[in-house]
Amino acid sequence: MKDYVKSRKHEWEQACFIPELTDAAGLTRVVRRFVELQEEFLAGGIVLRAFETFAKPESVAAEMRVWWLDGEPRLLTPHPDSPSERMLLPGLDHIRPAVQRLGCRFVTTDLALRSDGVWRVVEVGDGQVSDLHQSSSRGELAALLVGP
Ligand SMILES: Nc1ncnc2c1ncn2[C@@H]1O[C@H](COP(=O)(O)OP(=O)(O)O)[C@@H](O)[C@H]1O
Ligand SMILES: [Mg+2]
Repeated sequence: MKDYVKSRKHEWEQACFIPELTDAAGLTRVVRRFVELQEEFLAGGIVLRAFETFAKPESVAAEMRVWWLDGEPRLLTPHPDSPSERMLLPGLDHIRPAVQRLGCRFVTTDLALRSDGVWRVVEVGDGQVSDLHQSSSRGELAALLVGP
């Protein structure tokens, strides 16, 4: 679960993951704890998403961040939390039309590889909260923004 902007993924057990949705007491406990910990930073409302099992490739970033400009993927980096600089190359053909429908010039998508081999968007940003991985230079990102 998360609010409209952030999860509390670092407090996975107590404020993020709901193991059994039909367990009303457990569900209430996790949601309450999340709201409590968010304090005044709670944004929008509460979002519950179906859990998906992602692959855990060794020595490769678990999530990839794709930086889009005008509906085209322009830069691929590991997610900024990833200690690894090594990446898998995600297939983007099924994601491009969805990004284009957003109608935003600048978009980031965080992608994870599901264990059945499908690349899934786990988070979308408009750039304002999109950190850059340590292996990427600010110049590279600036070139993306001003380049042809
Ligand atoms: N549907 C899902 N199933 C399983 N794990 C998920 C799912 N959605 C997100 N996650 C995991 O939770 C983490 C945090 O979710 P995310 O939406 O990226 O929130 P945050 O804004 O806190 O980064 C993701 O990096 C991913 O590892
Ligand atoms: Mg995230």
